[in-house]
Amino acid sequence: MTAQDLEPGTQATAPARDDGLAGKVAAISGGASGIGRALAVAYARAGADSVVGYYPGDPHDAGETVEAVERAGGRCRAVELDVRSAERTDRFTEAALETFGRLDIAVAAAGILRRRPLGEMTDEAWDDMMAVDLSGVVRLFRSAAARMDSGGALVATSSIAGGVYGWEDHAHYAAAKSGVLGLCRSLAVELAPRGIRCNAVIPGLIESPQSLDEQNSLGPDGLREAGRIIPRGRVGTVDECARAIRFLTSEDAAYITGQQLIVDGGLTVRWPS
Ligand SMILES: NC(=O)c1ccc[n+]([C@@H]2O[C@H](COP(=O)([O-])OP(=O)(O)OC[C@H]3O[C@@H](n4cnc5c(N)ncnc54)[C@H](O)[C@@H]3O)[C@@H](O)[C@H]2O)c1
Repeated sequence: MTAQDLEPGTQATAPARDDGLAGKVAAISGGASGIGRALAVAYARAGADSVVGYYPGDPHDAGETVEAVERAGGRCRAVELDVRSAERTDRFTEAALETFGRLDIAVAAAGILRRRPLGEMTDEAWDDMMAVDLSGVVRLFRSAAARMDSGGALVATSSIAGGVYGWEDHAHYAAAKSGVLGLCRSLAVELAPRGIRCNAVIPGLIESPQSLDEQNSLGPDGLREAGRIIPRGRVGTVDECARAIRFLTSEDAAYITGQQLIVDGGLTVRWPS
C-alpha cells in the first residue's frame, strides 16, 4: 500500500517495534527517582514490564514511578531495596520472577554522591560510597544474572567523573564509577557464553535529584552555568539518559557488549576554550 492508497483522514497502522523489548522484564535499582524512574517509563512505552527498587530512606515516592508507568500503559512493581545488602538484592530480583515470571534486564541506577575533600575522607565515608556505587552494582548483577535463564542485558551507570574527568572533593565517587567500568568489561566477557551482555552508560550532566543537590553536586545554578559549555547548550534530561540505557538493553544493541556509551551532549569532546 502506498500513501496514495489511503482514504483521506486515515493513517497507516504504526509498525510494531522491532527492538525486542516487548514482553521483557527489567529490574531497575534506584527506581524511585531520576534516571531509574524515567527508565521504567521508557520500558513501559516499549512494552516491557519492570520492578523498581526504592530505598526506604529516600524521600522520593516509588508509587509515583508506578503511576507514571501505568499512565504509559505498562506494568511496574515497586520493591524495597538496599543494594548494600545481598539478601535484599536477591529478594528484589526474585520479585521480578514472582510478579512477571521472568527476568531479562537489570539496570543499576541506584547511587549516592557525597562531597568529601581528601582530608575529610574517613574510612567510613570511603566504604559507604563503595558499598552503594560499586559493590551495589556487583550485588545487583550477580543476583540478576543468576535468574536469567535465556540470555539478558545488564547496564550500569558510571559517570564522566569515573570515565573521563577528575572531580575535586569527589575522589571516592570517581573511584567507584571507574570501578564500574572495569566490572562491566570483565562481566561482558565472562557472561557472553550465557548470552548476557553487559555495558555501561557514562552520563554527563543530567538534571535529576542527584545533580540538583547543591551540597554534594552542582545544584540548579551550577547546572544552568554548565549548560553554557555543553555543545548541545544545556544539561540532559533523565528521559534522554533513560533512552540510551534502553537502547543498550534492546535487540538494537544485540552485538554490543563490554562498551561504554557517553551521554553528555558533547561535553567531553568539546575543545577547551
Ligand atoms: N544525574 C547525573 O548528572 C548523573 C551523572 C553521572 C552519573 N549518574 C548516576 O546515575 C545514577 C542515577 O542517578 P540520578 O541522577 O537518577 O539520581 P537520583 O538521586 O534520582 O537516583 C539515585 C537513586 O539511588 C537510590 N539509592 C541510594 N542509595 C541506595 C541504596 N543503598 N540502595 C538502593 N537504592 C539506593 C536513591 O534512593 C535514588 O532513587 C546514579 O548511579 C548516579 O551516580 C548521574
